[in-house]
Amino acid sequence: MKVRLFITALCALGLAAPVAAQQPIVIKFSHVVAVNTPKGKGAEYFKKLAEERTNGKVKVEVYPNSSLFKDGEEMEALQLGSVQMLAPSVSKFGPLGAREFEIFDLPYIFETYDDLHKVTDGPVGKALFKKLESKGITGLAYWANGFKDMSANKPLRKPEDMKGLKMRIQSSKVLDSEMRAFGALPQVMAFSEVYQAMQTGVVDGSENPPSNFYTQKMHEVQKYLAMTDHGVIEYAVIVNKKFWDGLPPDIRTTLEGAMKDATKYADDIAKKENDDALAAVKASGKTEIIVLTPEEKAAWKKAAIVVHKENESRVGKDTIEAVYKETGFKP
Ligand code: LMR
Repeated sequence: MKVRLFITALCALGLAAPVAAQQPIVIKFSHVVAVNTPKGKGAEYFKKLAEERTNGKVKVEVYPNSSLFKDGEEMEALQLGSVQMLAPSVSKFGPLGAREFEIFDLPYIFETYDDLHKVTDGPVGKALFKKLESKGITGLAYWANGFKDMSANKPLRKPEDMKGLKMRIQSSKVLDSEMRAFGALPQVMAFSEVYQAMQTGVVDGSENPPSNFYTQKMHEVQKYLAMTDHGVIEYAVIVNKKFWDGLPPDIRTTLEGAMKDATKYADDIAKKENDDALAAVKASGKTEIIVLTPEEKAAWKKAAIVVHKENESRVGKDTIEAVYKETGFKP
């Protein structure tokens, strides 16, 4: 009783903050991949840094594996403020009306992680984030995952081997035309539904970096993985603009620092995470890894290059030329 009176007196004198006011600011961070992936580990690392550096004034709740929102739900939830932070693949911004992000989906436009960083850290990356502001979204950073490979239950060595296959894609028109260029039938589907669709034959295959292929256990339902490296999975870490602008400035600055360091961490581990996942797929003995010769890879590139021209008006001729210049890409 005496203690409570003492605290009340302290509050009245302004010497102690009322308990209620110290509730932490909660950031719900939802994503669709497993924890042991570049993005999964990046999100956990951001949580650690954000909570440590704000001395608990911020609490980050990470919801992996579509456990809170799945593809097709995430963006709307962010705009409504039901979740504060996401890191969707840049291939999923078309439905939001930011189709220019599909520049990242042009086959073979990136050959190395350096190419990717040149573009994400340069004027193109910044210009794309600007397009999100009118949608109530702020872009904070780009995180890399890796290069995509084609999988199916038949050996894929030549683009013609894809003929008539039902292939799962993300919600991107550029990926739709990429699969059609290979003679396959594209099927847009939420990431969380792909394993079962492969198991039941709703789709014959898909395109994934090894880290997603392995952590979603696709090696259990796909007999072949062809190392086509024909595209990338890159993420845009985004927040609800109103929430972010409404943060106390000191907190926002600290979170920006935490995001910068988490971005470096996620990018630094991306390649190793994918190499380790590929080794684990090999070790499982469940999926045969098809390593293409340079001539065979050139045939995939030749078959896919039409996609660049086909999507010039969709992603923007200027943006394509700017990326060609940054990466030194030769069609
Ligand atoms: C996919 O849907 O294949 C990927 O975008 C999933 C992810 O976030 O890596």
